[in-house]
Amino acid sequence: MSEKAFYVSTPIYYVTAPPHIGSAYTTVAGDVLTRWHAQRGERKWYLTGTDEHGEKVMRSAQAQGMSPQEWTDKLVEESWKPAWVDVDIDYDDFIRTTEKRHTERVREFWQTLYDSGDVYKGEYEGLYCVGCEEFKLPTEIKVDEDGSKRCTIHGTELEMVSETNYFFRLSKYGDKLLELYESQPDFVAPLSARNEVIAFVKQGLQDLSITRSTFDWGIPVPWDEKHVLYVWIDALLNYVTAAGYGTDPERFEELWPADVHLVGKDILRFHAVIWPAMLMAAGVAVPKQVFAHGWLLVGGEKMSKSKLTAIAPKEITDHFGSDAFRYYFLRTIQFGSDGSFSWEHLSAVYTSELANGLGNLASRIAAMVGKYFDGVLPEPVDHGPAEQALADRLEVAARVADTAMDSLAFHDALAAINDLVGAVNGYVSEQEPWKVAKDPELKARLATILYTSAEVLRAVAVLHHPTMPKAAAKLWTLLGAEDKLGPLTDQRIQTAGTWGQLPAGAVLVKGDSLFPRLAD
Ligand code: MSP
Repeated sequence: MSEKAFYVSTPIYYVTAPPHIGSAYTTVAGDVLTRWHAQRGERKWYLTGTDEHGEKVMRSAQAQGMSPQEWTDKLVEESWKPAWVDVDIDYDDFIRTTEKRHTERVREFWQTLYDSGDVYKGEYEGLYCVGCEEFKLPTEIKVDEDGSKRCTIHGTELEMVSETNYFFRLSKYGDKLLELYESQPDFVAPLSARNEVIAFVKQGLQDLSITRSTFDWGIPVPWDEKHVLYVWIDALLNYVTAAGYGTDPERFEELWPADVHLVGKDILRFHAVIWPAMLMAAGVAVPKQVFAHGWLLVGGEKMSKSKLTAIAPKEITDHFGSDAFRYYFLRTIQFGSDGSFSWEHLSAVYTSELANGLGNLASRIAAMVGKYFDGVLPEPVDHGPAEQALADRLEVAARVADTAMDSLAFHDALAAINDLVGAVNGYVSEQEPWKVAKDPELKARLATILYTSAEVLRAVAVLHHPTMPKAAAKLWTLLGAEDKLGPLTDQRIQTAGTWGQLPAGAVLVKGDSLFPRLAD
């Protein structure tokens, strides 16, 4: 059996429209996290996919005059998968809930819980939000002046649903869930999300309605085919069906339990309450962590497919490139908090940190090594206090970034790397190699300044590789590092901060700029 893979998942997205940058935000975060672990030399497994059943998807297909299957096939192939190419996602599996490998296992799973007595038949009446695919509690309803009842997230009018359903005995698992939050303190993160979940469970849990009978776009209930399974209890199982649950025990053992389920804060309870209770009922291990991030806001509101505030990732990547997209959102928004997007801010960060910060530094160093040393990296024979200060700083930055990634503090990791680049820029400005070059007696000094700068850039290429794969690869080529140190993917985060790896003799080539200047 191979080692356990570091397993990260995104939520599976409803295919009602093409993805917007809110969906891409989560997907990029998971991609950077898994690539980071791969760069540490670990095996990674990254899962994303689409949630294709339920009323919401069915209605969006009807609005297009298509069957739900035709509609989801079209959107997945023409919009969702291409969007993940646009933002450079390296997923290991893409699951669709309409696939047989999923639907069959879901039926088996719920049949087992029905047989063991965790599912019973009853009546349900409640206010339902199709946008959330969820019955709402009284505290989650906003009453308008005209008396209409609305969803606090979508603002849409709630629908009264009254039907005979099957129920999952969620209430039975309240104490076990509280024990889980206690014994596995990182199960829900960040802390604000953990507190919210604990307070919610402490109020007492109601049993959960898990079937619907007023429409048929879902997985038929195995013991009563007039009903379909509620979309959420079908969707949550994707995390195990994709990992081989019920079909491939060896694969399942290598992958499960998942290390992190990334979720938006609006779907936290499904993942931190219902999902572990379902797993407990089936005797399956719970995941290690559910991490709730914030929303991308537009005009102070959650960007949404239904509110027409959606921006497609491609609108950004066409102009700024995929690396800048990946860097910008993780660098500027604290993971766990909401963040506002604006084109002006994106442009400003791109220009100051990427084009002028890192890109310009790399091309200046390559140009000077070209001009003064025929492109061949010289020996740093005059390594003194200024150089040692930079070497120390690199060692600390690499460690800080690595530790930050363990708590999904992408913003801190990227800030540490950006500050390091700033420190090299400061060093170059102070040392003024272009002036030193004028005095032939100072050749050793010049060599040392350029070597030192290039050596920090060597580490920056490794540390930025998970976030900006394309720019990091260009930087690796620019430094002539591949010939001397081997492929960038083989460089390890753990040793990135160790000084003196790029050997003298490396041939630097000033290729295309890492981050081209913007047209306007
Ligand atoms: N299908 C369910 C998830 C099932 S997982 C077993 C679902 N889909 S969704 O398409 O509505 O939302 C998917 C994810 O996108 C959620 O985590 C949600 O928080 C996230 N986002 C939707 N709009 C967002 C922003 N504006 N900003 C950040 N994330 C956003 O819920």
